[in-house]
Amino acid sequence: MENVGSLLLPWYDRFHRELPWRGVQDPYAVWVSETMLQQTRVETVRSYYPRFIARFPTVSALAQASVEDVLKLWEGLGYYRRAQNLHRGAQQVMADYEGQLPSDPARLRRITGIGPYTAGAIASIAFGVCCPAVDGNVIRVVSRVAGIREDVAVPSVARRIAAVAADWVPAARPGDFNQALMDLGASLCCPGTPDCGRCPLSSLCDACSAGDAEELPHKSRATPPRTLRYDVLLLRQGNRMLLRQRTETLLQGLWVFPLLEGEKTPAQLVRALRRSLGLGCVYARALGAARHVFTHQVWEMRLHLLDVSGPVPDGYRFATADEINALPIPTAMRRPKAMGLECLSGAEGEPPCD
Ligand code: ADE
Repeated sequence: MENVGSLLLPWYDRFHRELPWRGVQDPYAVWVSETMLQQTRVETVRSYYPRFIARFPTVSALAQASVEDVLKLWEGLGYYRRAQNLHRGAQQVMADYEGQLPSDPARLRRITGIGPYTAGAIASIAFGVCCPAVDGNVIRVVSRVAGIREDVAVPSVARRIAAVAADWVPAARPGDFNQALMDLGASLCCPGTPDCGRCPLSSLCDACSAGDAEELPHKSRATPPRTLRYDVLLLRQGNRMLLRQRTETLLQGLWVFPLLEGEKTPAQLVRALRRSLGLGCVYARALGAARHVFTHQVWEMRLHLLDVSGPVPDGYRFATADEINALPIPTAMRRPKAMGLECLSGAEGEPPCD
């Protein structure tokens, strides 16, 4: 009787994607690539991964870096908590494991930022341990092939999917097998319209024979993202703009232009700035709008330029154009940053008054 591995591995040998991390068995490099690949498209990771490895080639190099440098290299990838955890995890591996990642998935999971998926991916790809690595692609393939039609967000159903995936992994080539499942889920067994005609697993697939592959996996409706309206303040003092390092969970550690919730008139903005930051300011002009979609929030932003005077408030800094370019600034601030740099390029550098 044919099993999943004997059908999938020959398909993988023929059709696998050429990716910069394929064939790499250094556990640290696998840790980096798999961390980047969580929640981020393969095409985006393609360029970030080699740059990150070139700059931080070892656990030790990453552990010694500043978190700010790590965030700067991560800029644009999103989910910045991953970068902070990777950095903290590297320091932990230096302190507790003499710089060597363990091969056992249970021990890997004790490292900051390594969850069940990443532990399974590192153990199987780097160390050849026979264990699954269950990500969204694998959930889709397993739910279709095994005909699991219950809501995959229910923990007992998720456990069943993980158990099926574990049962499928062959002792020979577990890392290739796990990556083959990911490639299949990203190409033929994709969301929406799967290409069952070309799928190597169609002869075993419950959903293919039942004709409901398109409807799987079954997911209960996620809560829609909340829309937040912000005024984004480009506060110019001579040739510098005011930025704030975020302390909130979302985008923690990254630098943003000051945000005020709600939609205010220019006069209200001037008053709010005096009250909240102790800054005197003159409203210069409106700079249009921007929008950014996070997983659970949408930011609708209106941009404003103001000229300010007064001391730097705690947690803030004034930055020149070069300094702005060197700071880790999230994609949500792409338009404000571009507008800020444009406003500075015209600024004739009035003497900065700190
Ligand atoms: N998604 C997550 N990990 C992956 C990998 N190693 N190859 C392709 N896609 C992935």
